[in-house]
Amino acid sequence: MTSSVVSLSEYLAAQASRIDAALDRLLPAESEPPETIHRAMRYSVFAGGKRIRPILCLEAGRTVAGADEEGIEEVACSLELIHTYSLIHDDLPALDNDDLRRGRPTSHKVFGEAMAILAGDALLTYAFEVLARAGSAALVGELARAAGTVGGMIAGQVHDIEGESQPPSAELLERIHRAKTGALLRCSLRLGAMHAGATAGQLEALSRFGEHIGLAFQIVDDILDVTQTSEQLGKTAGKDAAQHKITFPAVHGLEASRRMAAEQRTLAHEALSVFGDRALRLRQLADLIVDRSS
Ligand code: IPE
Ligand code: IPE
Ligand code: MG
Ligand code: MG
Ligand code: MG
Repeated sequence: MTSSVVSLSEYLAAQASRIDAALDRLLPAESEPPETIHRAMRYSVFAGGKRIRPILCLEAGRTVAGADEEGIEEVACSLELIHTYSLIHDDLPALDNDDLRRGRPTSHKVFGEAMAILAGDALLTYAFEVLARAGSAALVGELARAAGTVGGMIAGQVHDIEGESQPPSAELLERIHRAKTGALLRCSLRLGAMHAGATAGQLEALSRFGEHIGLAFQIVDDILDVTQTSEQLGKTAGKDAAQHKITFPAVHGLEASRRMAAEQRTLAHEALSVFGDRALRLRQLADLIVDRSS
């Protein structure tokens, strides 16, 4: 079947179930000692995330190579393992102190704080084991940097936490969002592209696409925190204002935030022009990121 005859929702469901099956194959069984940690890892990984990062990775690879390369599932899954670790730790009492995630009680509510910290550590460590099996040292370095402290996810989380007691500014806001969420989304495109043997020009285009959808993703996350219910989100709504977070709606208001997300979508689409029709799915994924309701 060609992509044009598979609807977007069928495509997304097929990609997500492929990722779920690969994660199931890769993660240690719950019966593997010590059972508690493996239960905790699986509890959060299989709680029903959208799998947007691994799907972007798979699609970046296809956009470059026209087909799936051997080992791309491992590469894609490493991103979801890092992402899930970041959510477990983001929800801890010392960070955002959340008790609902992916429609379920958070890891520390179910397994206790010590085990939630360790489950996050374990997913972080395991991500690199999985990636090292299928990817080159360049891919390992790329993921480590995106998850790290120099412009990466941890840098963003630090700015996010410290921002709770700082005056909001448009500049700090963009710095937080590009790092805490944008870096891993951009990396999702880059890992897929690099694994597929992208040229320098292709990698540059997909990186730019990743930056724009990365920023759009967190703008929309901030908007949804204001406009949706906890039931719709599967996580506690209204938390950002309660915790004095520096967000797009707080700094720019809802209407301007929506406009800015739409601008990022347009820029993301433009970045794909070198790929022509081959980037249809990536264009649709950018639309989905901006138009989603959870
Ligand atoms: C939520 O990410 C955390 C952010 C970085 C904004 P997602 O919205 O991708 O969460 P899941 O994976 O679908 O649960
Ligand atoms: C989380 O940002 C970014 C991460 C690195 C996990 P948020 O704190 O806004 O994510 P949610 O809204 O709790 O999912
Ligand atoms: Mg947070
Ligand atoms: Mg949070
Ligand atoms: Mg949020």
